[in-house]
Order: sequence, then C-alpha cells, then structure tokens
Amino acid sequence: MRTIATITELRSALALLREQGKRVGFVPTMGALHEGHRSLVRLSKQQADVTVVSIFVNPAQFGPAEDFDRYPRMLETDAGILIEEEVEFLFAPAVDQIYPHGHDTRIYAGSIASRYEGARRPGHFDGVATVVSILFNIVQPQIAFFGQKDAQQLSVIRRMAGDLAIPVEIIAGPTIREADGLAMSSRNSYLSNAERMEAVGLFQTLIFVGELLLAGHPLEAAKLAGMDEFSRFAPHGMLDYLDIVHSETFQPMTSFERLEPGSTTIIIAATIGTTRLIDNIQV
Ligand code: PAJ
Repeated sequence: MRTIATITELRSALALLREQGKRVGFVPTMGALHEGHRSLVRLSKQQADVTVVSIFVNPAQFGPAEDFDRYPRMLETDAGILIEEEVEFLFAPAVDQIYPHGHDTRIYAGSIASRYEGARRPGHFDGVATVVSILFNIVQPQIAFFGQKDAQQLSVIRRMAGDLAIPVEIIAGPTIREADGLAMSSRNSYLSNAERMEAVGLFQTLIFVGELLLAGHPLEAAKLAGMDEFSRFAPHGMLDYLDIVHSETFQPMTSFERLEPGSTTIIIAATIGTTRLIDNIQV
C-alpha cells in the first residue's frame, strides 16, 4: 500500500493506472476504522481494480460544539488495517491540502439535508457534500462506496452526484453490526460500559417498529409504541427522533404501504450519555 498525503502525488499515481484502463474504486472515511469500513473496502476490492481509501477528519462537517477535536485519530492502526485488506492507496491529506483557502466555496446539500441530521446539525451535510465532491475531483473514481448506516448521508451524496453530473457510480454497503445489533461506529468508543448496554436500544426500537409496520399497524401508532420501547431499553437515553421516511428522498411518510422492499426507511437518533448515535433499517 502507498500512503499519499498530497493531491499532486495521488493524481500522478492514479493517472498512470487510469491510462492502463484500471477501474478506480474509492472509499472515503474519517478513520478510526472498524468492520463497517472494512466491509466497504472489501466491496471495492471486489468491484474495482484499484482501491483508494481516504482518511480525512473533515472540519467542515462538524459544528462548533461537536467532537472535531476529540474525534479518534489513529492513522498508524488504520494503515495496518488497510494493508491487511490489501488496499493499494491510502490518501491521508492534511487540512490545508483539502482546504488551501478555507472552505469558502461550498456545496449546498439541498432538500434531503433539510430534516433530521441536517436540522440537528446545521451545515453538516453541506460540509459532507463539499468534502466528498472535492475528494471525487481529486480521486476521480469510477465507483465509490458508502454505508447504509448513514442513510441520509448516502441519499445526499447520491443526489449531489446526480445533480452535479459527477461521473461516479455510488454503491451502498449494508450496515455492519456488533453481535447484539448495535451498528458499528467510530463514536461507539465514547460509550461507557453502562451506556454501551443501553445503546442497543436504537436497533431494538427499529426492529420493533419494523415488525409493527409489517404487521399492519398504523404508522403513528407504531412510532408511539417505538418511543416507549426505546425508553424501556435505554432509560438514560434521550431520543432525538424516530421516524419513517421515503428511502430516497427522506420525506417523512404519513402511512406505510410496502410498495417494494427497501423503499421505506425507519430512522432513529438518540443521545446516550454524551454520545449521539444514529441508526436505520429499511423495510
Ligand atoms: P465515516 O464515519 O468514517 O464513515 C465512512 C464510511 O463508512 C461511510 O460511508 C459510512 O456510512 C460507512 N460506515 C460507518 N459505519 C458503518 C457500519 N456500521 N456499517 C457499514 N458502513 C459503515 O461518513 C463519513 O466518515 C464522512 O461523513 C465522509 C463520507 C468520509 C465525509 O467526510
């Protein structure tokens, strides 16, 4: 694996491979890699000739009161994991490579970003869309891989790539979970043991609501029952939202009709202790 920190060096390395007709797969990350990231890398290894993974903790997507400073940074461990996965290129730029003049020009992430994570974290999806478009321009991958775990982010990026006519195919990888169902996340490392026990409440609630919907319960009733279920599992947790949305547009749904499997997404966000967690399942 080659670890590269500058745009110039990455561009020239990839230009050679592209001339040879190689298909470039790209997995953008913020590091602190876990099985969720590994699964995306494996998808890329299967579908592309060359895999580029980026590790960049993107200041533009963190709010002023968020965890940018304490976000886990462990480049050496991460590089070890990517070597194990036989990744060809690790792109690990410093902030001034990506934002040499600050992030003055930005992407506006549009309507999908207006609710849920976008409403709770103003500017977050603009920051994500901005950095992902910059990284797409640097790497120019044919295929890029994103986790279903961050379903709203995935929708924002699909929409951005479509609207801006970026010639990249966006592939979604399934959410990778711990044995008890907790979705893997770099932020899980912030949880104390007691909080970790309650954190599984997010997934339990999603499964519970999903079963109610599929059994024909009205959407509002299923949501209310889900809120109770969450407080039972996570008595010290603070539920932020629990909702049922259209998988592509993230528009809230008022009734549930299963037109095709996966067209509806149940989303949840909650704070356990001081850690904000999100999860979702498709029904
Ligand atoms: P990060 O949180 O590091 O996630 C990188 C990728 O891994 C994202 O596509 C995310 O959805 C995926 N991922 C995270 N946890 C997962 C899990 N349990 N199962 C499957 N995939 C999972 O998301 C970001 O970084 C950033 O916003 C980024 C897109 C890199 C832009 O800065």
